[in-house]
Amino acid sequence: MAAASLVHSSLCRPSSFLHQQYHHHRFRTFALSIPFPSSGSPASLFSSLSSGSPQKKSRWAPVAAVLEVGGVKINAIYEYFDANYSGKFVKFDNLSPIVSTKENFDDVLVPADHVSRSYNDTYYVNANTVLRCHTSAHQVELLRQGHNQFLVTGDVYRRDSIDATHYPVFHQMEGVRVFSPDEWQASGLDATSYAAMDLKKSLEGLACHLFGDVEMRWVDTYFPFTNPSFELEIYFQEKWMEVLGCGVTEQEILKRSDRMDNVAWAFGLGLERLAMVLFEIPDIRLFWSTDERFTSQFSEGQLGAKFKPFSKFPPCYKDVSFWISDSFTENNLCEVVRGIAGDLVEEVQLIDNFTNKKGMTSHCYRIAYRSTERSLTDEEINQLQWNVREAMQSKLNVVLR
Ligand code: DAH
Repeated sequence: MAAASLVHSSLCRPSSFLHQQYHHHRFRTFALSIPFPSSGSPASLFSSLSSGSPQKKSRWAPVAAVLEVGGVKINAIYEYFDANYSGKFVKFDNLSPIVSTKENFDDVLVPADHVSRSYNDTYYVNANTVLRCHTSAHQVELLRQGHNQFLVTGDVYRRDSIDATHYPVFHQMEGVRVFSPDEWQASGLDATSYAAMDLKKSLEGLACHLFGDVEMRWVDTYFPFTNPSFELEIYFQEKWMEVLGCGVTEQEILKRSDRMDNVAWAFGLGLERLAMVLFEIPDIRLFWSTDERFTSQFSEGQLGAKFKPFSKFPPCYKDVSFWISDSFTENNLCEVVRGIAGDLVEEVQLIDNFTNKKGMTSHCYRIAYRSTERSLTDEEINQLQWNVREAMQSKLNVVLR
């Protein structure tokens, strides 16, 4: 689901993408649901969850580091909203991440054929239940309860490719603000323009509060639940990184929440992404590290703290080439690799792709193994790679070359 996003790539694309074979590496067609290995890294825990045996919450909670790093940024965001809206935003941080497909998709108008609904993108617990892929899953229930201004923070889950800014569990904060007619009428603007203006003003204020003078830009985009929709991107590690998606809530959502006469804005913010920029943390896996050299750096909860790299262990690259089958997807490959290598895998990158005269397609992926904590031995990496190859053959229906 997540494009260059915090934010499932897919949630910011129209549903027709589902039917395009090869538009973008995160926009593949459906894949089968495959069984995944079950040992080792956090990633492997997903397999047991998606096959219906939820783990205890504590296993899922990020280690102290992210709570502390997270604590800092969550507090800084709370601080901003409390100061600017006189404490009126109600905060929820304890809603269950196991939600119905209705809450995760239907209630927020995700089309029936949208790619984000596929087993390739979202972790299904059963046919009607998923691990929420975004905190937007709670919008409608809270609107129905009558809340007008609220923030929802929680863990969200996505099947995705592997690189320094993507991890299958991460944290989002959702914000919603509802307006009544007297608010926009007094402004002389129409309801939508008023909400869009207030939204951009609020989020620019938040970004300044958090980042000071980083380079940022607004990008027009698509989300099923908002119109117009925008993304805020921040320049980080020589790339534009999306840190939040937002927009003016679709009127249909308000209608379904018995709020016909109102307009609203909403945003969803990726908390690890935000912390990476704030603290200059180069790799999202570090949030799961128990290494004291990481955790101790953020124990004081200072916003100004910058991450001091403690190790630059060299990456080790291994290539694997294979003939794909129709059901092959990169997300499935990544799940298999993470199931074997856990957090020792840093990146999985397609480096070659061709189709021969017989119509057979070959892919070559380069897997970067690197520990954030220690040197890896050749022997260990060779063993990992061998296990990855075995698992690919048995689980992915590909033919290694
Ligand atoms: N749910 C979106 C995602 O995870 C982020 C988002 C975009 C949330 C727009 C919103 C919104 O509330 O209005 O990709």
